[in-house]
Amino acid sequence: MQRQRPTLRSLVAVLLLTAAGPVLAHAEVEAVDPRRDAHLDVAPQRVRLVFSEPVETRFSLFKVYPLASASLGPADLVDPDFLRLNGLAAALVPGALSARDDADVRVDRGLIDTADRSADVTVALAPDLPVGAYVVMWRVLAIDGHTTQGHAVFVVRAPAQGEAE
Ligand code: CU
Repeated sequence: MQRQRPTLRSLVAVLLLTAAGPVLAHAEVEAVDPRRDAHLDVAPQRVRLVFSEPVETRFSLFKVYPLASASLGPADLVDPDFLRLNGLAAALVPGALSARDDADVRVDRGLIDTADRSADVTVALAPDLPVGAYVVMWRVLAIDGHTTQGHAVFVVRAPAQGEAE
């Protein structure tokens, strides 16, 4: 049995590499700023997404929605349960990405400093976002023709009671 271990390990390594291959070919988000589950004191003015390969930005969707305040309690903005917020976001995203008449809901204000083909996408946000939870969502067309989508949540926090500003 002892002698088989290296062989098994090599086989597992090959399988992992094979499985990873096609995934690496798509445009996956490598970085989000504000980072996922960020708890911010100050409303951000933009969101930056860095993908693993260039995307066709004119044929991609980038949206930012507030998470409905009806589903949030005051505690969510002081000490957010990001697991719960991401669950709410995951339920919201498919419909939101397909919605057309949602200009009144969206707090994104178009792309800035972003080329038509770019792995580095910056989305402007409405000024002075109020305290709340927000969902950044994207459906992108990579230059290899594959579409991927995802989302990230950030919270513009309310100060905790008694906390020094
Ligand atoms: Cu691909």
